[in-house]
Amino acid sequence: MLTIETIEKLKTALKPLKMQGKSIGFVPTMGFLHQGHLSLIEQSIADNPITVVSIFVNPAQFQPNMDLDRYPRDLARDTALLEKAGVDFLFFPDVTEIYPENYQTWVEVYQLTDLLDGASRAGYFKGICTIVLKLFNIVQPDKTYFGQKDIQQARVIQKMIADLHLDIDLKILPIIRENDGLAMSSRNSYLNEKDRKIAPLLYKALCEAEKRFEQGEHRANKLIQIVHSILSQESAFIIDYIDIVDANTLQRVEQVTNTAYLALAVDLHGTRLIDNTQYL
Ligand code: PAF
Repeated sequence: MLTIETIEKLKTALKPLKMQGKSIGFVPTMGFLHQGHLSLIEQSIADNPITVVSIFVNPAQFQPNMDLDRYPRDLARDTALLEKAGVDFLFFPDVTEIYPENYQTWVEVYQLTDLLDGASRAGYFKGICTIVLKLFNIVQPDKTYFGQKDIQQARVIQKMIADLHLDIDLKILPIIRENDGLAMSSRNSYLNEKDRKIAPLLYKALCEAEKRFEQGEHRANKLIQIVHSILSQESAFIIDYIDIVDANTLQRVEQVTNTAYLALAVDLHGTRLIDNTQYL
């Protein structure tokens, strides 16, 4: 695996491979890799002769009081995991390479960002769309891979690809969970032992709602209530949102009649945890 830190060097390395017609798979990450990232990378390697992974903790998607400075980083461990997985290129740029002085251009997707994380994290998706479009322009991938765990992110990037006529196929892959159901996330490393034991309640609540849906409860407010009442049993959770949204529009639905997501976000002693399950 080649680790490349500059845009110019990465473009130079990829150009002859593109000329040979080799399809390029791309997995953007912020590092501190776990099995969720590795599942995306494994799919890219299975689908494409060349796989590029980026590690860039993107300051533009962190709100002023969020965890930019303490976001977990371990390049040596990440590099070893990527080597072992068989990745061809790691792109690891510095902040100044991506956002040089006097940087002024931003990308926004509107309606899909109205709810969920878009509603509670000002500028979050603007930061994500901007970095992802920049990375797409640098790597020029044929295929890219995102996880269902950040379902709003995946749908927003899909919309950006369609609206901006990018020739990139985006695949959304299933959430990878710990044995106790907690969705894998780099931020899980913030949890102390006690909170780590509390966190799987999120998935238990989602499963309970899913069970009730299968038993015939299709009213969104009732399904949300089920999740809410289970999470309320644990006073450490501060609920940010619990919503059921249509899979295409990401707007609220009253009845679950088409593909939808029950998505939630909570704060657990300063750690933001998100999760979702798909209906239909
Ligand atoms: O999901 C992430 O890790 C980030 O939001 C992404 C897509 C790498 C953009 O910074």
